[in-house]
Amino acid sequence: MANSSPKYVCQECGHEAHKWMGKCSGCGAWNTLVRETESADVEARVPDLTTDGQNGQGSANRPTQITEVDLGEEARLCTGVDEFDRVMGGGIMQGSFSLIAGDPGIGKSTLMTELGGYLPTRTILYVTGEESKRQVKIRAQRLGVDSDALYLLAETNVQEIANAVETVEPDLLVADSIQTLYRPDLTSAPGSVSQVRESTASLLKLTKEREFATFLVGHVTKKGTIAGPRVLEHMVDTVLYFEGDQNHAYRILRSVKNRFGAANEIGVFQMREDGLHEVPNPSELFLSERGYGVSGSTVVCSLEGTRPILVEIQALVTPTSYSTPQRTVTGFASQRLQMILAVLEKRAGLAFSDHDVFINVAGGVRLEEPAVDVGVAIAAASSFRDIPADTGAVLIGEVGLGGEVRTVSQIEPRLKEAAKLGFDRAVVPENNLERIAGDYEIAVSGAEQLREVVDIVL
Ligand code: TYD
Ligand code: MG
Repeated sequence: MANSSPKYVCQECGHEAHKWMGKCSGCGAWNTLVRETESADVEARVPDLTTDGQNGQGSANRPTQITEVDLGEEARLCTGVDEFDRVMGGGIMQGSFSLIAGDPGIGKSTLMTELGGYLPTRTILYVTGEESKRQVKIRAQRLGVDSDALYLLAETNVQEIANAVETVEPDLLVADSIQTLYRPDLTSAPGSVSQVRESTASLLKLTKEREFATFLVGHVTKKGTIAGPRVLEHMVDTVLYFEGDQNHAYRILRSVKNRFGAANEIGVFQMREDGLHEVPNPSELFLSERGYGVSGSTVVCSLEGTRPILVEIQALVTPTSYSTPQRTVTGFASQRLQMILAVLEKRAGLAFSDHDVFINVAGGVRLEEPAVDVGVAIAAASSFRDIPADTGAVLIGEVGLGGEVRTVSQIEPRLKEAAKLGFDRAVVPENNLERIAGDYEIAVSGAEQLREVVDIVL
């Protein structure tokens, strides 16, 4: 253990340098290098936190033929809250380790406390490093969570947490938050890259050995990524983001990685006085404030994980008063908008170069799927021409550089969702038409070119 030398670790990406630099050569961030002293063989020093120290060692740990591996029963803790269970891939898998990240004040601690109410018969150990037990209790009261099986521990020392796990033997461990935890055998401060990494590694080992489930709460950086080393996301089984707009009551729980279910699955909640309430039909919610008969509004269908969701796209196109026209987007990638506007200009003859374009995805949702391109394009075209688009139509399709409407995956669940919400027409890529087998009580029009969609709905 003598090999102890100072090193400088980037607090954004975990890049290590031998001398201090203003700019991290790993990720390019400024002023993120912090001196951390620690011995070089830290990986080998993850302590055995169990008292018997026998697990995973000795003769039991030999290579096994895959056919010999005993799966046992697939044990998942089902909370009965569909929006939560679906994101977890059908319940919380026993022995799983999840990281839940989000902006401060978004409701991470609230959601974790609610687990006590969702699973009243399960032993839950809630470790709080940021709040006192009293604060957690006040929140739990507000949420109506009052369970004998919910244990609180105000602690940040990982070794003490491991001891508490020995005594309480929880089915579920919540550690809020990883940035406050530390291992006393490391010299760097809590929240530093090595503490975050090593504390996670210790809890991960404990979780796998004892086969309970762990939720680790994490903060996000200004850029919206999980604060701490990138390796954190590789270590854990599930990475969840709890997102939403502080000004809206909607909260979206999104799985960006899930070893036990579909990634990109979302669960929608509403934050109220008495806590989070699930929103079983988000399409209805996202369309509830839709304007009718106004130009610049379209409805798209985005597949979030396994579930199709209908969302309104709003566009406002006005003549610019600046030399450079403005492009302002919320909830959609701005580069993708630039591309769509360029295609509209070249292939449909709509010149946006002397117009400002504002795009807003209603309800504070963030859309990543290219299948919403056509809807964005038509919203912009509708506002540009000041003609309302057909309000009964859902627009589905990706826009290619040639102005073509490209095929999307999973067309059938999208049509079902549109029909369910009372839409009477869907415009889909021509190539998707032949794959539609069922009858969806909705008129389906195919389009090969963006120009054709403009003609159909404007
Ligand atoms: P919190 O769970 O403390 O956020 P995080 O742990 O992500 O930082 O949530 C805090 C916010 O949620 C706070 O602004 C108050 C609000 N809130 C409600 O609106 N209703 C409630 O029942 C609770 C407990 C919190
Ligand atoms: Mg919190």
